[in-house]
Amino acid sequence: MSGLGIIGAGGIGQVHAQGAADAGCPVAVFCDPDLDKAKAAAAPWDAKVVGSTAELLAREDITRVVVAVPNALHMPLAIDALEAGKDVLLEKPMALNSGQCQQVLDAHAKTNAILQVGFVCRFAATSELAKRVIDKGTLGDIYAAKAIMLRRRGIPGLGRWFTTKADSGGGVLIDLGPHLTDLVLHLMGRPQVARVSAAGSSNFGKPPEAYKFTNMWAGPPDVSGAFDVEDGASAMLRCANGATVTLEASWASHLPDGTLSDGVTLFGTKAAMHFDIWGDHVLVGNEVGGEMADCKLPIPEGEGWGTAFKREHECFAASCADRTAKGPSGAEGLGIQQLLDAMYRSIDANAEVDASS
Ligand SMILES: NC(=O)c1ccc[n+]([C@@H]2O[C@H](COP(=O)([O-])OP(=O)(O)OC[C@H]3O[C@@H](n4cnc5c(N)ncnc54)[C@H](O)[C@@H]3O)[C@@H](O)[C@H]2O)c1
Repeated sequence: MSGLGIIGAGGIGQVHAQGAADAGCPVAVFCDPDLDKAKAAAAPWDAKVVGSTAELLAREDITRVVVAVPNALHMPLAIDALEAGKDVLLEKPMALNSGQCQQVLDAHAKTNAILQVGFVCRFAATSELAKRVIDKGTLGDIYAAKAIMLRRRGIPGLGRWFTTKADSGGGVLIDLGPHLTDLVLHLMGRPQVARVSAAGSSNFGKPPEAYKFTNMWAGPPDVSGAFDVEDGASAMLRCANGATVTLEASWASHLPDGTLSDGVTLFGTKAAMHFDIWGDHVLVGNEVGGEMADCKLPIPEGEGWGTAFKREHECFAASCADRTAKGPSGAEGLGIQQLLDAMYRSIDANAEVDASS
């Protein structure tokens, strides 16, 4: 069995360790300059610990790595790993911008390595069920789609790298945007996007009184730290085939609990579909004999959201084993980043822009 290394022992690095173990290929080595963190993350899996990527990448027993570090390190560490001959599962966003993504792809093109981008929402059981149903033509032509992830109290690591543009590339748009954009376009069969319009807002990072900390990814806030990114965003994509995609994301808001769940809605000429990404079923609505008909399709037993990372790792391991990439590709990662770049251009211009730069 090829050995798995995880670069970055933070929040998602630990989730990857669980996913890899569930997939039957547990992590062998954790790498993090914060050795205490690495040791704590490695302990449940009896994994070894190293403090530098150079040390990890020099190991012959490690053939596959997960890159799970702050966004600004995605490009350089992915390139180092590819040049060292490792297969790479690269967390989202693929890099800070499409220029950096292209550099990763250029490095990848010089190797035979597998490169998979961490669009894990595709591996949610709801998303997989939705895709199977859509691919049978159930919805007809999809003419509009919506995807939302609206958090009430969820600014990740307020005041640290997630909210520092130089380290993250942006705020909620580059954090949750890759998941939403990839998932909805994946379900629609990846139509070409022609025009992009987006808006961003920043209301909850400063002053700190505007945001009462309850609980969030990446720990309690450092209110003296940086916050130079957006914490709310919306976008509309106009596809070349006439279809529209609207996206809404927030890290923080005053949205009352339970009003809008993180979900995807697809409108087709024959039927419409809605599902909560973290939920246990997919809804399809259409018309039967002139009567409104709603169909609730349950996901397979035991395949709740927690198993998405397991399937992501099964996909990565299988691709590495037979040397045939099956998961979200680097080219798809670049395509998503080009759209994110266009969304940021639209925010700066306060106007709709071409999707291509
Ligand atoms: N797929 C998902 O659903 C999902 C969820 C959360 C985060 N992410 C992505 O995962 C990445 C990491 O996010 P996180 O929440 O785990 O952040 P985090 O801050 O919790 O962890 C990052 C870790 O990287 C370590 N690190 C920094 N420099 C390093 C280096 N040179 N070598 C090795 N380790 C280094 C840090 O010490 C830290 O432990 C981000 O790109 C984020 O966008 C993806």
